[in-house]
Amino acid sequence: MLQGKRILLIVGGGIAAFKSLELIRLIRKAGGAVTPVLTKAAHEFVTPLSASALAADKVYTDLFDLTDEAEMGHIELSRSADLIVVAPATADLIAKMAGGHADDLASTLLMATDTPVLIAPAMNVRMWLHPANQRNIATLEADGIQRIGPDEGDMACGEYGPGRMSEPQAIFDVIQTQLSDGPLSGKHVIVTSGPTHEPIDPVRYIANRSSGAQGTALATALARLGANVTFVTGPAMVPPPQGVNVVPVETADQMLNAVKSALPADIAIFAAAVADWRVVSEAKNKIKKGKTGAPKLNLDENPDILATVSRLRKNRPDLVVGFAAETENVIANATAKRKRKRCDWIVANDVSPETGIMGGDENAVTVIDAQGAESWPRASKTDVARRLAARIADAL
Ligand code: CTP
Repeated sequence: MLQGKRILLIVGGGIAAFKSLELIRLIRKAGGAVTPVLTKAAHEFVTPLSASALAADKVYTDLFDLTDEAEMGHIELSRSADLIVVAPATADLIAKMAGGHADDLASTLLMATDTPVLIAPAMNVRMWLHPANQRNIATLEADGIQRIGPDEGDMACGEYGPGRMSEPQAIFDVIQTQLSDGPLSGKHVIVTSGPTHEPIDPVRYIANRSSGAQGTALATALARLGANVTFVTGPAMVPPPQGVNVVPVETADQMLNAVKSALPADIAIFAAAVADWRVVSEAKNKIKKGKTGAPKLNLDENPDILATVSRLRKNRPDLVVGFAAETENVIANATAKRKRKRCDWIVANDVSPETGIMGGDENAVTVIDAQGAESWPRASKTDVARRLAARIADAL
């Protein structure tokens, strides 16, 4: 429920604007308050009257409306909300946000705020994929702006691909997660996930079979308990979770840097299958077959991200959880790994091919802490994630 919560809903000018009316209805039904802000272009798609009627609140449109300033200055308007939602976030609005523009009410509010912001992009597939838009999205990600979608599918313009705004119910679910007073609300959790790719040359890399499914499920479960999650992910097979701050990386070095920049955190969970080695010097050009036979790859050990964070004197999270991917003597090896890496808990799993766990939908884990080992029955990765998130919430 959203009782006592206020959402500032910025509606951009796109065909998906009509869906934002349904979003207003869902928020109101859950007991939340909505203040709609319509950009000039949004007026072409929805009327202030319909937004106002559904929100049962005044609709703001113009930066220079003196009545609005007398009632509530634009600074106050942006700060009084618990969450700012931009839906639909058009390519233009996204570009303005990334560039720090403040030339109308919507962009000024977004610049003036220190409130968390969630965007739901909607645009033509070519616009979404355009390098300029992708650059802007990466900038917003780095700024900590949360994003849901866009979804893939048939578009109003007749094309197919990513660009459709997420459905109002999906946006509402993320809003609810974000504002829920769950046991982890107010806690910052870093989750690493997926494999890392260590380049050999411009076309080849060292990798592993991790799909990122367990880390993704865990981030979702933690966010559902109210945590503010920074999700540092290597190139995973599954799509990243919604409603968390996604930081995409490729290599172990990049993952370590991303984790360091995300600190401080209350909890850190290392579910990534980090490549243990990297090639000392990545070849500039594609390595060619030659008379000298197969190339000798000179490998160096990657930094151990979990061990680095566990050993921090300053900024060590209160709870550090590692994973142990083993193929033999699972509990004994994982117990030794917990001590060696100095983490508080280690979640051990058997990744031998016959278990089907690595890259599969299920997991069978043993949680090891200072008290001992607790084996859980095999279950879906989603259920394992929920149980682990609940154990973490209990431990704090
Ligand atoms: N890990 C890490 N950085 C690395 C290697 C591993 O943060 N360079 C983390 C993983 O995310 C996981 C834990 O350490 O939480 C254990 O990873 P695992 O692959 O099981 O162990 P390794 O350290 O690689 O040891 P080994 O290969 O000898 O089993």
